Amino acid sequence: MTNWEQIDTYVRKWLKEARINIIDSFKKTLDIETKSDRNDLVTNIDKETESFFVKNIQEHYPEHHIIGEEGHGKKINDTNGVLWIIDPIDGTVNFVHQQRNFAISIGIYENGKGKLGYIYDVVQDELYFVEVGKGAFFNEVPIPKLADTKVEDAIIGINSSWIISNRHIPISNLHRLVHDSRATRSLGAASLEIAYVATGRLDAYIAMRLAPWDFAAGKLLIEELGGKLSTVKGDPLQLLESGTVFVSNVGLHKEILNKYFLANE
Ligand code: IPD
Ligand code: CA
Ligand code: CA
Ligand code: CA
Repeated sequence: MTNWEQIDTYVRKWLKEARINIIDSFKKTLDIETKSDRNDLVTNIDKETESFFVKNIQEHYPEHHIIGEEGHGKKINDTNGVLWIIDPIDGTVNFVHQQRNFAISIGIYENGKGKLGYIYDVVQDELYFVEVGKGAFFNEVPIPKLADTKVEDAIIGINSSWIISNRHIPISNLHRLVHDSRATRSLGAASLEIAYVATGRLDAYIAMRLAPWDFAAGKLLIEELGGKLSTVKGDPLQLLESGTVFVSNVGLHKEILNKYFLANE
């Protein structure tokens, strides 16, 4: 039997320890490399944070599987056993340029079923936490279920580059959505933007390409609160696949899907 209470105690301890190293790095020179393009950054702190979690998990739970953005578990292609999906720093561009608005995101699954999710806003020291079936919490305070909202009253999280060009939704429909909504925002850290939908600071979040570590924790948080995640075509998300992600309360999800994403130009 997996001892989830013990795992939770460890994760909270490790998050606080990782925080110390990350905050400390603000005083030092970062070692910054680029990955797929010049705006896709990785730093020594992304790598150190991932290694820190991997080392600790392996020490206490050698039988668990781990997928991390910075390279751990690249060959894992199934969800058997206990699987940790980790983004050591989500929002690396913010981390480098702003020293805020980034998070550590950890989703823990057992045989494909969500168990625990953590989105930790490191600088604010704020934790969004979900234990599937037992509730979702912001800094230990229960988060209420998501209420339906309408496009005209909605604040929508969307990366502005997708409003200019994308191949998934007719572009004029995206323009219409931006026009019809109350406002749009782009924070630049997918896990936090999903946590913002969970806490009602955003009504929806739309991303044209996210990886499993960007949404593994957020998915559990949103589902626990009765919200909905899908691709922009309305299909269910596959945990180990990258693609479009559309998160919202159920009412707004339906309205945006029907009137904008699936509608003809
Ligand atoms: C990125 C951020 C960003 C999103 C990108 C992600 P990273 O994660 O979440 O907001 O638009 O798709 O890759 O690389 O900073 O962990
Ligand atoms: Ca990255
Ligand atoms: Ca990320
Ligand atoms: Ca990352």
